Amino acid sequence: MKLVTCGLPYANGKAHIGHLRTYVPADVYVRYLRMAGEDVVFVCGSDCHGTPIVVNAEQQGLSPRELIDIYHNHFIKIFDALDIKFDYYGRTDAEYHHRRTAEIVSRLIDKGYIYPKEIMLAYCPKCKRFLPDRYVEGICPHCGAVARGDECDQGCGRHLEPGEIKEPRCKICGSKAEFRSQKHYFFKLTEFRDFLEDYLSSLKGTENALNYARNWVKNLRDWCITRNLEWGVRFPKEEGLVVYVWVDAPIGYISFTEKACEKKDCDWRKIWIDGEGEIIHFIGLDIVYHHCIFWPAMLKGADYTLPSAIVASGMVKVEGKTFSKSRGYVVWVEEDYLKSNLSPDYLRYYIVNYTSHQKDLNFSWDVFREKVNNEIIATLGNFLYRVLLFAWKNFGEVNMEGVDEEVIEKIKETEKKILTALEEWEFKIASDAFMELATYGNVYFQSAKPWELIKTDREAARKAVASCLQLAKALIIFAYPVMPRSMEKMARAMSLDIEHCRLSDAYSVDSVMKLDKPEVPFTKIEDDVIERLQKIMEKRFMGEKEKEEKEEVTIEDFQKLDIRIGKVLKAEKIKKSKKLIKLIVDIGDEQRQIVSGIAEDYKPEELEGKLVVVLANLRPAKFMGVESKGMILAAEKDGRAILLTPEKDVDPGTRVC
Ligand code: 2FM
Ligand code: ZN
Repeated sequence: MKLVTCGLPYANGKAHIGHLRTYVPADVYVRYLRMAGEDVVFVCGSDCHGTPIVVNAEQQGLSPRELIDIYHNHFIKIFDALDIKFDYYGRTDAEYHHRRTAEIVSRLIDKGYIYPKEIMLAYCPKCKRFLPDRYVEGICPHCGAVARGDECDQGCGRHLEPGEIKEPRCKICGSKAEFRSQKHYFFKLTEFRDFLEDYLSSLKGTENALNYARNWVKNLRDWCITRNLEWGVRFPKEEGLVVYVWVDAPIGYISFTEKACEKKDCDWRKIWIDGEGEIIHFIGLDIVYHHCIFWPAMLKGADYTLPSAIVASGMVKVEGKTFSKSRGYVVWVEEDYLKSNLSPDYLRYYIVNYTSHQKDLNFSWDVFREKVNNEIIATLGNFLYRVLLFAWKNFGEVNMEGVDEEVIEKIKETEKKILTALEEWEFKIASDAFMELATYGNVYFQSAKPWELIKTDREAARKAVASCLQLAKALIIFAYPVMPRSMEKMARAMSLDIEHCRLSDAYSVDSVMKLDKPEVPFTKIEDDVIERLQKIMEKRFMGEKEKEEKEEVTIEDFQKLDIRIGKVLKAEKIKKSKKLIKLIVDIGDEQRQIVSGIAEDYKPEELEGKLVVVLANLRPAKFMGVESKGMILAAEKDGRAILLTPEKDVDPGTRVC
């Protein structure tokens, strides 16, 4: 039995391409394992604890659970749309998960691995509270960069222990925090040094993860595992404390296995207690420390089974720039990709095939189009469709006797390449292998020329077609884990029960193959789709850049602006201009003429009578010779203007402050 898990996404934001870099290859891996005859359990779930969720919920006026519900459901929807099929997708705020966490923490306490210690912690005198993790911001003690409470995210990247941050400030009210003493609980990580050194020397997985971890093990410190929060798994020994999110999150791998096993009728204890089978964690490179150091030490201390492999994906870049949500270098799975009606298979293939799993993946819309149109469609799709259509049109049913031995050999070689690649977590090599087989297929079909043979020698044409059909079947089977949706479609044309196929079925030859009319497997990506997406990206990046570059203003600066509510009395388009509209606006003590660039988004008649927000003391200017004294405020969405308007009826001239 193999257990495959994926790092749990925080239920705190929307899915982006960075998430998929872990989930897609893991899903592909699981599908291949199953086709190779392995028994696999595949689990993941939402990470529901930690201060970012509490802070975010507070800022949005929601309870943590309400916020989590939104994103938990969002992730379920995304996984479904991308055909990422977990046996169980849980959530760490569930009762069963709290129970398992409490059991493991209590065990560590009983075995003497957890001890209390008074430490100096950031405390906000104004909010009258201790400031755990993201509630505090300050200076990294190691590199001097601005850091948040638990991580030097903009500087050296180190994990920061509670109380380590310098010059702390409360993230909620901005006040200077002070240090106060409080009792917290520590896990004796330092006692696990020898064990970890030994364990890491035989741990399997990707080199990127293992190399980092082997270096860190030399420098261990005991680990503070409690926090002053209400939201989280209660620390069994003391009221008012919860366990740190990084204690309970990986325990989700266990609690979700329990739930998956209820569904699948297997025994989670065999995996997690008896050590029968293998545990393989797929994660991002940024959480190697937690998975290679904290997690195995906890498992060892609580007598649970240790992971057999840690598979870490390389980082993601977007259009050549380091992935960054705040800087706008991001591809949102739903809003950008799925809403553009692009097949999930295209993105799955891109992620798996762009580069080695361990290396940095650059997502670029141009490269995406090239890979889809030239590889998926022109190589794989072309072969499958041509062969299936030709066979269906000319034979309907094909006697498969006499499939070329060379073809069978090629298929066997491809299977071997795929299996070897999987052992090394090299999903690019696995997907290159079936693409090479498709290229071979195209050459085979092209040189056998069955469309000519059929005119003179139907039997010779049949043989050539049989060999091509065998290749088509093999390709459908080998490509299915990467592109399940399209391969299911192709499998229907040869009545192949793809969901239950094994890799070895690729070279088993049936006596006859009955064909139905094949559907077109893929649709080409048009340039205008890519151009639209590239524009969205550019806008987002420019928008974020502007936001980022604006300097702080004081309240006095803001008060210099005369912003008021106005009522549009008259509106007319400015002749010879596509964009400009001339408005007469009542701003209380006068009627103003204002020119606004909203003619493509609003008709003059829609504007008359509308309440708008006016910046009244903007220096006058002329547009196409028409004077404008002020500006109408609008939000911009996808290049369109959306006017701001007061939420309730107010008199023209009312101040906005
Ligand atoms: O870094 C993250 O996004 C975490 N939510 C990952 C948790 S993985 C595991 F340990 F549960
Ligand atoms: Zn730092």
